[in-house]
Formats: sequence, C-alpha cells, structure tokens
Amino acid sequence: MRILVTGASGLLGRTLCPKLSEEGFQYWACNSKIFDVTNTKMVNEIMNKISLDFIIHLAGYTNIDQAEDNPELAYNVNQMGTRNIARIAKKHNIPILYVSTDNVFDGTSNIPYKTTDAVNPINVYGKSKLAGEREIIKATKKYYILRTSWLYGTGGYVDAMLTFSNFRKEISVVDDQIGTPTNANDLSEKIIEIIKENKPYGIYHITSSGSASWSDFTKKIFEIKNRNVEVLAIDKSDFPRPAKRPKYCVLDSENVLPDWESSLREYLTVKSK
Ligand SMILES: NC(=O)c1ccc[n+]([C@@H]2O[C@H](COP(=O)([O-])OP(=O)(O)OC[C@H]3O[C@@H](n4cnc5c(N)ncnc54)[C@H](OP(=O)(O)O)[C@@H]3O)[C@@H](O)[C@H]2O)c1
Repeated sequence: MRILVTGASGLLGRTLCPKLSEEGFQYWACNSKIFDVTNTKMVNEIMNKISLDFIIHLAGYTNIDQAEDNPELAYNVNQMGTRNIARIAKKHNIPILYVSTDNVFDGTSNIPYKTTDAVNPINVYGKSKLAGEREIIKATKKYYILRTSWLYGTGGYVDAMLTFSNFRKEISVVDDQIGTPTNANDLSEKIIEIIKENKPYGIYHITSSGSASWSDFTKKIFEIKNRNVEVLAIDKSDFPRPAKRPKYCVLDSENVLPDWESSLREYLTVKSK
C-alpha cells in the first residue's frame, strides 16, 4: 500500500512513520517545505504524477495561542489545506485519515464527549480544525476523522518536563483544565489498525482512557522518573494566555487505549532503555 503522510515531520508523524515502515507500507513523508498543503497548484501537479492508495493528513497549524493573532494562517492550513488534500483523495478515490482535536468542543460538559455530541470550538485553532473536518466530510465519503488530545512523544511535553527537572526544583502548572494525555505511539498503532482492518469510515475519538489535569499529568511524570520537582497547582486565570482553553475536554474513546498513567509509564520506561 502506498501512503502519503502530510505533516510527517511533526510530533505524531515522527512516531507514526517508523511504524509504517515496520508494517511494510510504502509511504511518502512530507513536511511543509516539500509539500505545502496550502499551495493548490503544487498539490494538484504533484498528485497528478503519483499513484496512491491512502492519505494520512497530519499537517496542521497547531500553535493554539499564535492562531488567535493569525487566524488567516490557521484557516489557510487547517481548512484550505485540508480541502486541497480531501479533494485529491476524492479525485483518486482513496481514503483520507485526518487527525483532529478535542478543541472542537467548548469544554462545558462534565462527562466525556461522544462523537455525536454537538461541537462548539472556543478558540481559533479549534474552529479552523473543525472547518477542516467539514471540508473532508463535504469532499468525500471515504474519510476517517480521528479526534485526539494532549499528544506526547519524542520532543513533546513529557520530554520537556524531564529536561526542565534537570534545572529547576519547582514548576507552576494549571490544575483546572481537564483532558487526557495520549501517547503518540498508542495513537500511531490505532491508525495502523484502522488502515489494515478497513474499519468503517467516520468520526472516531481516540485518546488514552481516564482523565487528568495538567498538574496531575506533570506530577505523574516526575513521580515515575523520581524527579524531585514540586508541582504548584494554579488556576488558568493565574496564567493568562491568548487562546481560551476548553475547561473539560475528555473524549469518550470507549477505552480503545490503555489508561493514561500506564501509557505514560510505558513511554518513560521505553525512553530509559
Ligand atoms: N499534538 C497534539 O496534542 C494534538 C492533539 C490533537 C490533534 N492534533 C492534530 O494532529 C496533527 C499532528 O499534530 P502534531 O502535534 O504532530 O503537529 P506538529 O508537531 O505541530 O507538526 C505539524 C506538522 O504540520 C506540518 N505543516 C504545517 N503547515 C504545513 C503546510 N502549510 N503544508 C504542509 N505541512 C504543514 C509541519 O511541517 P513543518 O515541519 O515543515 O513545519 C509539521 O510536519 C495536527 O493536525 C494537529 O492538529 C494534535
């Protein structure tokens, strides 16, 4: 199977692509320099010359705070870029898998969000990712939309906290924002399962099981690695940022992945081998 992976240089792509190799898939791993999804002419020219069986569309404008000041840039990548890729998928009659976000919800619920729940993003990033979802649904029936949250992997939040612990003994972390930390490795395995097993098209919620605040998550990282760093729990209001964050953004993923604590432990154990 020949797969196009957009956004392959990002956090998720860096974990997923080696796994695609292990599974024997042929894939073309693209970043924005060799394949800018917003450049409609270039996308069409390249796609007319190559044969594909599947598209994994990870490319995204992902800086949630900067998106507030650059909405046109966020929409250009997350909506228009996704439209370009979705139309290619339709033209070639191949499936597209798009990774979306918990930020499509407003976070006012107090129970996990189901795929059928009403969306209502409260920041530009979430609105532009939702616009991307809608472009896909408009363009083709052969889609997988995977909403996930708080991804960590090589070079992400967990690694940053471990580096931080080498230099500092105290950190303030938000305690009133609830979500689910998710290991990029686990999500990559699910993506491969979906492709191999021809799962039904549609929207999926794929996160680890359970929920945590950012301070719970950070404490657990230091606890597992025996790092002596005090985590001071603060409110979002003590740490104002340009973009609003949904207060409670737990996705109902029907326990398709292990609980977040055991996945985190696994990630940290593999790292120290
Ligand atoms: N990380 C999370 O917690 C999380 C949670 C939910 C959903 N998601 C979604 O999952 C996907 C992957 O996330 P990630 O964390 O791996 O993102 P990331 O680390 O920020 O990487 C973004 C990727 O998109 C590429 N890209 C940006 N603009 C592009 C353009 N105009 N044309 C082509 N490629 C472009 C980047 O390429 P360059 O390296 O060339 O810039 C990079 O490969 C994103 O769509 C994101 O919205 C992420």
